[in-house]
Amino acid sequence: MKIFVTGGAGFIGSNFIRHVLGLGRNYSVVNYDKLTYAGNLANLESIGKNPKYQFVRGDICDAAAVEAAMRGCEAVVHFAAESHVDRSIYEPAPVIETNITGTFILLQVSRKLNLQRFVHISTDEVYGDLLPGTSADESSRLQPSSPYSASKAASDLLVRSYVRTFDFPGLITRSSNNYGPYQFPEKFLPLLITNALDDKPLPIYGDGKQQRNWLHVDDNCRGILAVLERGRIGEVYNIGGLDVEENLSIARRLLRLVGKPETLLSSVRDRPGHDRRYALKCDKIGRELGWTPSILLDDGLRQTIDWYKMNVEWIAGIRGGEYRSYYEKYYDNRDSSLHAITQSGVKSSGKF
Ligand code: NAD
Ligand code: DAU
Repeated sequence: MKIFVTGGAGFIGSNFIRHVLGLGRNYSVVNYDKLTYAGNLANLESIGKNPKYQFVRGDICDAAAVEAAMRGCEAVVHFAAESHVDRSIYEPAPVIETNITGTFILLQVSRKLNLQRFVHISTDEVYGDLLPGTSADESSRLQPSSPYSASKAASDLLVRSYVRTFDFPGLITRSSNNYGPYQFPEKFLPLLITNALDDKPLPIYGDGKQQRNWLHVDDNCRGILAVLERGRIGEVYNIGGLDVEENLSIARRLLRLVGKPETLLSSVRDRPGHDRRYALKCDKIGRELGWTPSILLDDGLRQTIDWYKMNVEWIAGIRGGEYRSYYEKYYDNRDSSLHAITQSGVKSSGKF
């Protein structure tokens, strides 16, 4: 099967390509990626000159370029997105354009070229903020809170409408927070790991009691492949991790693993509209496709920390680019509200 992967130079996409090609089965991949600030061909260096892999630089909003690159492919796995919630708050326009219009264009071209399967990669954020102790299943209401999650919900609904109206072979995965190697350090865990390794403050938004359902990217890649190969057309599959944990608690766990003091924890101004809890019920993918998460959080975190320790050049490359000004703009401005976090909670202590 020749798979058209969008956004394959990003975090999950590059892990997925390595996973699929590493299986040694009869898969080949066309990686179609615009190489935004988050796209990085260094993520795929280990693929080398694999004859089953081809890279095409292009924008999913460019219909003619998508059509030229997709011709001859049999399936689409659609990762490409503006994926960061904070950026979607500061600058929503590219998020709306890529995540909604880009998905629409991919659907149109895939229909035209009679693709056999289209796996749309979505997120648990479409279910919005959950009440304490509750989890979302695939039939839960869509109640997105941020421009990012609203754009993902909109694209999910477009896929759904194509299945219903055009008999289109669409499927959707909704995964929880991924972590693992090659994640861009704007995201919580790689930001914390890289800051901790450099003895820099770990910025924790608000009270740090927001809960996320952590999923190792390898577990997600196995789930996505199962959906691609055996999922039922028109269905949504949740893919969630084993652990739902508060941000502050996972930050403390991480500091223990890195061997750095908790004095590095800093409470900073909260994210507007910040969802308090995400958690997924994943019975459906377990029952239908035999998928369950397998990587324990401590094991996954250890492996991820080791990866960031070993890949200082990868980090240096990112820090030398747009990320530096992003960090200065959005984190240095938060300094005025920096607080030290103590065992008992948040204690105001001025600037670190
Ligand atoms: P990422 O930001 O690391 O990578 C996104 C990739 O898409 C980059 O390579 C970028 O260059 C590419 N891209 C962006 N705009 C494009 C465009 N217009 N045309 C072509 N390529 C474009 O993202 P990620 O964390 O790997 O997320 C991948 C997908 O998974 C996204 O759809 C995201 O919504 C979804 N998702 C992510 C998580 C997570 O925890 N990271 C969880 C659930 C769902
Ligand atoms: O839940 C799936 C989603 O997970 C994906 O759809 C998104 O693409 C992905 O970015 C991620 O979104 P989150 O907003 O949950 O992830 P992020 O890493 O940005 O933040 C995780 C939690 O940590 C969240 O509660 C905000 C908090 N946070 C984040 C950053 C970057 C901090 O406390 N400090 C930070 O500096």
